[in-house]
Order: sequence, then structure tokens, then C-alpha cells
Amino acid sequence: MTGAELVHLAYLASVALFVVGLKRLARVRTARQGNLLLAGGMLLAVVITLVEQGRVEVTWIVVGLVVGAVIGVWTVLRATATSMPQVVARFNGFGGAASAFVALALFWDEVVDAAGSGTAIERLGVASAVTVALSVVIGGATASGSIAAEAKLWGRLTALTRIPGRSVLMVASAALVLAAATTSIVVADPGFAAGVVVVLLVTSAVIGLVAVGPVGGADMPVMISLLNSLSGLAAAATGFALGNTLLIMGGTIVGAAGLMLTRIMCVAMNRTLWNVLAGGLGAMPSGDDASAYEHVVSSDAEEAAMVLEAARSVVIVPGYGLAAARGQHSAAELADVLADRGVQVRFAIHPVAGRMPGHMNVVLAEADVPYDRLVEMDRINRDFAATDVVIVVGANDVTNPSARQASGTPIAGMPILEVDQAQRIFVIKRSLSPGYSGIKNPLYEQDNCAMIFGDAKEVLDDLVQELSAATA
Ligand code: TAP
Repeated sequence: MTGAELVHLAYLASVALFVVGLKRLARVRTARQGNLLLAGGMLLAVVITLVEQGRVEVTWIVVGLVVGAVIGVWTVLRATATSMPQVVARFNGFGGAASAFVALALFWDEVVDAAGSGTAIERLGVASAVTVALSVVIGGATASGSIAAEAKLWGRLTALTRIPGRSVLMVASAALVLAAATTSIVVADPGFAAGVVVVLLVTSAVIGLVAVGPVGGADMPVMISLLNSLSGLAAAATGFALGNTLLIMGGTIVGAAGLMLTRIMCVAMNRTLWNVLAGGLGAMPSGDDASAYEHVVSSDAEEAAMVLEAARSVVIVPGYGLAAARGQHSAAELADVLADRGVQVRFAIHPVAGRMPGHMNVVLAEADVPYDRLVEMDRINRDFAATDVVIVVGANDVTNPSARQASGTPIAGMPILEVDQAQRIFVIKRSLSPGYSGIKNPLYEQDNCAMIFGDAKEVLDDLVQELSAATA
């Protein structure tokens, strides 16, 4: 077998790993394996591309792999279930930066440092020259936008929240990007071309910062999903520039998947992408608080445990507060204790519970909750009326019945978990403060609902203790 045939076979193997990996990602049970297969496919693709292109020495390939692996492992080991959006933002940023730098390197090799004179179009061809410029633009904006997204999620870069004359700045930067991109591929002077392409990268980075900076922290997951899509497009553009089919394919898959996810999140939150990007930019109404409620019944773990002792079916509704309290292990333990008593116990999963897609699945998987206990919203909604007890843990908006109204609240029209129809409802949260949408939750005033005020983990631990004592 020749070297070229081996390379083609390796490309085919990585494509197969992508396809099988993606298929496995679609089910919670096989998602971990899917992730590993995709990572393996990507590693193979990167190494084979570098070897085939022959532009980088083996030593540097190994150095790159080691540095990348160290950063990846370090980032993931430090990540918590609540900092996942930051991790995804960082990886998106690396993807965008990698595409921009590969395109820049190609430009330098073929245009700036090459012997003789000629424009990028003459040297690379129209398609490659245009996609090099595109890759620098999209990759640069994605990298800076992702850095801004991560910093904002950590509560930094607050100065960027209000950018005076933001629209004018965006239009001016876009015009400069268009001019620089065109100039970079039509000028023959290598020194001038080099200067223009650097201006192109810097201006694109400014666009990323200005676009993402003012987006509200709670809207950031939608933005991150969009940045994920852009990082894929940047990779696909680099694939066109290099003539690398695998990069085009992988980039397009990421681009399309990111766009679909962005749409799913917007629909599930009942917001338009434009609203996230330009409208309220995440600014939600200032929250209602305890004064907004007229009659709320409060309870405690002891009373809730007594009710649970008599229950036949229990649904636990996890939300952002569960992740914030890191109470997933306690929730899993409570489910086990109830199941041991012969209770049918399930977790109801809302698509936008928490602060990132699949947040509750990730959090509960961390605590090894069996997958067959996780039930999606559409399925579990049919069962609430026949459920003895619902325990809402740190969830608020996803259970708010006022979402059923056609308009008038930020969550109007958002599909919810219909917990209000259950026989008894206990809501575990620290206060009557609102959730992400900033509005009152009339569920808390219902006769069949009682509040257990406290940190999710502590209350769940108390419940486990009470039930275990009753069983012993
Ligand atoms: P939220 O409506 O945000 O409510 C979370 C509740 O958790 C809060 O009311 C808070 O009340 C409570 N909480 C916080 N820390 C707690 C702790 N340590 N112990 C106990 N409770 C705690 O959450 P949700 O119901 O999961 O809804 C998610 C919201 O985020 C939706 O509006 C959704 O549109 C939005 N969103 C979701 C996503 C994705 S993709 N998931 C992305 C962006 C926005 P206290 O302060 O009183 O404790």
C-alpha cells in the first residue's frame, strides 16, 4: 500500500469515527463513548493532515499534541458542573484561534514569504484566497468573542457591558473588515499584504468583543452555541483554503450542529436570536421578590419526609439551583432511598433547565443517576396529574405556570414542566427570589405547594436522613 493510499484510509477511518461518534452522542447512554470516538477521530484527522501536508516537523506536531493535551486535561479537571459553559466557550475560542492562525500561516507561506511577487489570488487561486480571508475574519471574531464570553461568565469584563455607540462601531468595523479582506488578497506587495492581513485579524477580533461584550450573562449560553457554530465555519473555511476535505466536513458538521442548537435554545426559551444579540441583550426585568407573594406555605424536611413515606410515585425536578448547590449526589441518594421503599421515582428533564443545553443530564450523570430514571419534558408532562409528590429542586422558570400565558412575561409561551398538576409539590430553594427570567412564580401560592427554604444540597441531605431514619 502506498503512502497516499494509507493517508486516504486514515481519512476514511476518521470520517467513520465521526459518523459513529455522532450517532452515539444522540443517546445519553452512549454519549460518553460517542465523545471518545469523536475525539479519537479528530486526533487521527489532525495528525494525518499534518503528516500529509508536510509543512510541520514531527517534533512540533508532538509538542503541539502535548501542549494541547495538557491544556485540555487541566481545563476539564478544574471544571465543575456549573462552569461547563465557560469550558465550552474556551474550547470554541481555541477552535476559532486555530483556524485563524492556520489561515494566517498559509497566507505567510504562500504570499508574504514566497519568492517573486503576485497577489494572494494569483498564488492561491480565487477560492483559496477568499477562504483564507474568511477564516481569519470568522476565526478571529470567534476567538475574541469566546474569550469575552468566558470572562463575562466568570463575572469579569464588566466594563464591556455598555459600549457607547456600539452599532456605529460595529458598522465601521465591518466596513474596515470588508476593505481589509479585499485588499489583502488583491495587493501584490508582500509587506503591504502582511500589514493588511494583521489589520484584518485585529479588526475581526474587535468585532467579536463588541458583539459579545454586552450580552447578558444568562443569555451567554445561546451566544456560546452561536460561537460554536462560527468556530465550525472558520474550520470549514480553512479546509477550503488548504484543500482539505476532512476539515471542510468536520467544520461544516460543527457549524450546522451549533446553528441547530442555537435555534433549539432560542425556541425553548421563547426568544429570538435577534433579541439575544441586539434587543434586551439579556437584560431581564428586575426581579420580583418575597413582597410579590401573598400566601406561601413553608415546610421542612421532616414534614416532606412524612408525605414521601406515603407516596407511590415521586418526580424530582432539577434546575439551576441543584447544579449551583452541587446537590446532584444528594438528589441521587434521595432517589435511591425512595426506590428502595418501592416508590416509582423519576427525574423530569426540561430542555433549558440550568444554564446550558443538557445541563441537568450532565449534572445527574455526574452522580450516576441511572438513565432510565431521566424522563424528558414531553413524556413526563402526561404523568404529573397522577404523581403523588413532586420535589422541585432549585428549579423555578421551568415550572412557572405563567409561561402558559400568550404574552406579558419574558417566558410567555415557553413550554414548562406541568408540576402544578401533581397532588403535592415541595419546592426547595433558598428564598422567594426569582429565577433567570426575573418574574414571580404563581406555583408557590398554590394550595398543593409548600416551600422548603434552604440550600438544595443541605435540604436533600436532611430529607435522606429523615427517610432513612423512618425506614430503619
Ligand atoms: P431558574 O429559573 O434560573 O431558577 C433557579 C432557582 O434556583 C432560583 O430561583 C434560585 O432561587 C435557586 N437556587 C440558586 N441557588 C440555589 C441553591 N444553592 N440551593 C437551592 N436553590 C438555589 O432555573 P431553571 O428553572 O433551571 O430555569 C433555567 C432558566 O435559565 C430558564 O429561564 C432558561 O430559559 C434560562 N436559560 C437556560 C439556558 C439553558 S440552555 N439551559 C441558557 C440560558 C438561559 P433562590 O435564590 O431563592 O435559592
